[in-house]
Amino acid sequence: MPVCYVYMVRCEGGALYTGWTNDLLRRLAAHQSGKGAKYTRAFGAASLAWAEAVPDKSAALRREAALKKLPKAEKEALAAAFDPARFVLLRPAKPADAAKVLEVFGWYVKNSTASFLYEVPSEAEHRRSIAATRRVLPYILAENALGQPLGYACAHPWRYGRDAYAWDTETTIYLAPAARRLGLGTMLYNGLLAALAEQGYRNAYAVLADPNPESEAFHTAFGFVCEGRQARTGYKNGWQGVSYWLLDLADPAADSGEPPAAPSPLPAGRLEDILAAARLGAGWRAIAGR
Ligand SMILES: CC(C)(COP(=O)(O)OP(=O)(O)OC[C@H]1O[C@@H](n2cnc3c(N)ncnc32)[C@H](O)[C@@H]1OP(=O)(O)O)[C@@H](O)C(=O)NCCC(=O)NCCS
Repeated sequence: MPVCYVYMVRCEGGALYTGWTNDLLRRLAAHQSGKGAKYTRAFGAASLAWAEAVPDKSAALRREAALKKLPKAEKEALAAAFDPARFVLLRPAKPADAAKVLEVFGWYVKNSTASFLYEVPSEAEHRRSIAATRRVLPYILAENALGQPLGYACAHPWRYGRDAYAWDTETTIYLAPAARRLGLGTMLYNGLLAALAEQGYRNAYAVLADPNPESEAFHTAFGFVCEGRQARTGYKNGWQGVSYWLLDLADPAADSGEPPAAPSPLPAGRLEDILAAARLGAGWRAIAGR
């Protein structure tokens, strides 16, 4: 079950309407177009005033009931402390999200050596790349409650997916500069690594520009270990090095000696469930039972 949200929308006259949903952006659009609820149809829903993520429908119903009983001043205090631009929504990325992904990634292509590309890929090219990746590997988008992209994480086959590398994958993560250091990278990687572990991938590799202290600290915090550094590997604004990082997604002690089963796609809806758990703060090991 995807994560549920309890929310309040501000109506045009200033009143607050309270509800719950498992698709916040679609529900907001429905309220704004007069298709949400009798109340917002009558009074006009202007904007999201507050939202909170909860694990399931029964938690949402309980929270909604409690909220409806709150005095107006307490609801207003919640709304005053809420910033829709920072409220995180996680979901599998679709090919149609190419422009959102490029809005984040393009910044690094143009302004940083974190990406070794010189030119931002075209939207059509990126649409094809998302479609190809998500056939076998997870591709996750983070956006805010205004529908603006905050970041993404995905994985690619390692070394062209040659037979013996079938259990290996290369992870990628990029956040909009203003969305860094808020815990969003942790949510995205917990979702990504849990999905890879459940699919049966054994090794997650990250290849970082060297130096990239933020990303090194981030990968270290996840238990990745630096396996080596190589100087003068790429030329972008001068010669750049790379460092190779590895995280074992399985317990080596659990090896039976038999050939491992090939990684397989997640069942329908499982990635959404994994992202719901990651959104609520669960670590990838707990989600994937490692
Ligand atoms: C690397 C990146 C994804 C980290 O995401 P983030 O949301 O900023 O990281 P989080 O807030 O979840 O931090 C998790 C942990 O990582 C470490 N960390 C992250 N950023 C750090 C920084 N700037 N300095 C020191 N430690 C940092 C810390 O241990 C942190 O835990 P803490 O907050 O309890 O101290 C983000 O900085 C980014 O997008 N960087 C640019 C793109 C890039 O280099 N991508 C990697 C290419 S593979």
